[in-house]
Amino acid sequence: MINSKNYYDNIATNYHVQALAKMNYLNAVDNYITQTLANEPIIGYMDVGTGDGRRALKLINYFGLDNNIVLVDDSKEMLEQIAIDDNSVLFNGNIMNYKSSKTFSLITCLWNVLGHFPSVDDRINFFKLVEDYLQPGGVFIYDVNNRYNIAHYGFESVAKNITNDRLDDDNKGWFDLATGANKTKVYIHSPFDIEQYIEPTNLILEETVFIDYSTGVKKSNFFEGQLVYKLRKPHQHG
Ligand SMILES: C[S@@+](CC[C@H](N)C(=O)[O-])C[C@H]1O[C@@H](n2cnc3c(N)ncnc32)[C@H](O)[C@@H]1O
Repeated sequence: MINSKNYYDNIATNYHVQALAKMNYLNAVDNYITQTLANEPIIGYMDVGTGDGRRALKLINYFGLDNNIVLVDDSKEMLEQIAIDDNSVLFNGNIMNYKSSKTFSLITCLWNVLGHFPSVDDRINFFKLVEDYLQPGGVFIYDVNNRYNIAHYGFESVAKNITNDRLDDDNKGWFDLATGANKTKVYIHSPFDIEQYIEPTNLILEETVFIDYSTGVKKSNFFEGQLVYKLRKPHQHG
């Protein structure tokens, strides 16, 4: 069993093939981001788990961003796939080791990056970090795979996942990804996980969107799609 960093180092040159297979979904999430932020000025942008940077660069171009851009990834090989954009700072490392005095009005963390964090505490600490790096009024958008997504994983698998969750099984939500020498573990979220991430922060959940993993069509409930969240740091708290 290898860790996320080694897994992505190993698959980096073929990553675009995996992305191509889910392009309807990925484009739908990108479109959601551009639409929901259409009327917001973006002053500083950080993308966490940027991978080959394709989607971050697409958003940077779309919004016409040209400074205070940071793209973070643990995997050196993934970052090497990036078609360099001179305006962006690349940070190769675990996001939890990122240190800067800069803040951002937009932070994204796209396509189940959060599923590669090893524990719930790591995910909670990440949300605290996001809060620290967001400017007041700034937005955090992330999406994760959803273990209650019947449309994608099928009724039987979801029924099994719900049963495991009720038993409070220690392994709930953890699944194998890939096989052989590339085997790693990935956490597939439930629609209820977000509560514990937000609770220790002042972040406000503004919108939850469910998107079909094959077609990219927006759905009305969590049994039919993956989970996309838009959160905001309040302008002032207290
Ligand atoms: C499924 S890929 C998504 C890449 C990109 N966001 C996209 O949508 O195409 C997940 C990426 O997250 C990175 N990653 C996972 N955990 C990380 C962490 N703690 N810090 C930085 N990067 C991380 C992996 O190296 C990998 O490149």
